Amino acid sequence: MKVAISHTELKVREGLSVWRRGDGTVVKQASTEIEQSRLRRERLFLEELHGTMVAPEVISGERDESGHFRLTIQDLGDSEPVTEPWLFARNACYVLWHLHDRQIKHGDLTESNIIVRDNRPMVFDWGESRHIWEHLTDKRPEPDSEHLWKAVLGILGCDWSQ
Ligand SMILES: Nc1ncnc2c1ncn2[C@@H]1O[C@H](COP(=O)(O)OP(=O)(O)O)[C@@H](O)[C@H]1O
Ligand SMILES: [Mg+2]
Repeated sequence: MKVAISHTELKVREGLSVWRRGDGTVVKQASTEIEQSRLRRERLFLEELHGTMVAPEVISGERDESGHFRLTIQDLGDSEPVTEPWLFARNACYVLWHLHDRQIKHGDLTESNIIVRDNRPMVFDWGESRHIWEHLTDKRPEPDSEHLWKAVLGILGCDWSQ
């Protein structure tokens, strides 16, 4: 028996489409060279973070029949409210620990790339990531920690800008 899978569009922009498959996975498909190289980079870093619970797991990554690169990852679902702020803050520190441990800079660690699940900030969108020894131009030159503390306070409803 075939099970019907419902696709929901999450984002479409020049060179990239993102959709939810409805089977617990999200697909990111890149058509341009730039987006394909971002997606390959995303795959590498997600694989390096496998099992840490700070990022979605990779299901597969390959060229599809149209020659586009397609990355299938764990669907993190919709963001949940934080019910235990201390636990959430502790888990945010674990995010930084896992990154520093592997000498990874996410490079775009803003609230828009975080989904809260089970009082954990789960981070996606790793296309700007690099190892700290790679000489690449950062989209966001500030350290990840600076973006993350702002994101954490924003998610907790604190106004840090005053
Ligand atoms: N693993 C995921 N689980 C659930 N939603 C996701 C996941 N990855 C991406 N999304 C959703 O898709 C949108 C676009 O994905 P993102 O990786 O941030 O692409 P972009 O590079 O265009 O910012 C996100 O804003 C988020 O809503
Ligand atoms: Mg994003």
